[in-house]
Amino acid sequence: MLGSDLTQKLNAQINSESYSVVLYLQMSAWCSSKGYDGCANFFRLQADEEKQHMEKLFDYMLETGALPQLGQIDAPPTSWNDVREVFHATFEHEIKISKDISDLVEVAIAEKDFSTHNFLQWYVAEQHEEEFKLKSILDRIDMITAEGHGVYTIDREVCRLTQQAESSVAKERY
Ligand SMILES: [Fe+2]
Ligand SMILES: [Fe+2]
Repeated sequence: MLGSDLTQKLNAQINSESYSVVLYLQMSAWCSSKGYDGCANFFRLQADEEKQHMEKLFDYMLETGALPQLGQIDAPPTSWNDVREVFHATFEHEIKISKDISDLVEVAIAEKDFSTHNFLQWYVAEQHEEEFKLKSILDRIDMITAEGHGVYTIDREVCRLTQQAESSVAKERY
């Protein structure tokens, strides 16, 4: 059974994940409107993932006998100056979500709710993945814009050659 503080905070997290859905859908729409189809697809998939994050919390609350309460969702921004700004805003948003998850973990520990603590570990790992993924994208954008296409092409080529080398080593091994 969930304590009242944790119930309220899990509901708030459902709301944050719902906001992430609309934020990323809006980003996808903006990217589409600019013709950035790859980025539009990225944000569409991100929005799908966020819906799953929201539903996972929703289901967990139901399993504990608590009533999930869906609150009002703020309208997201509708435009950004450029692609980097979109990804930077996404990175900042995910850092904020990571902090929210850490706060939730802290309350679960304070309430000695180890079931919820265990449940939240999935989100801890997910936020690590999200931050890593977005930092990698931002690094690539910076490589292209600050250092020119050359460095980006070299890096992709090294990545491709490394994968080739790894697969031939694997073939020799088995
Ligand atoms: Fe999420
Ligand atoms: Fe996320």
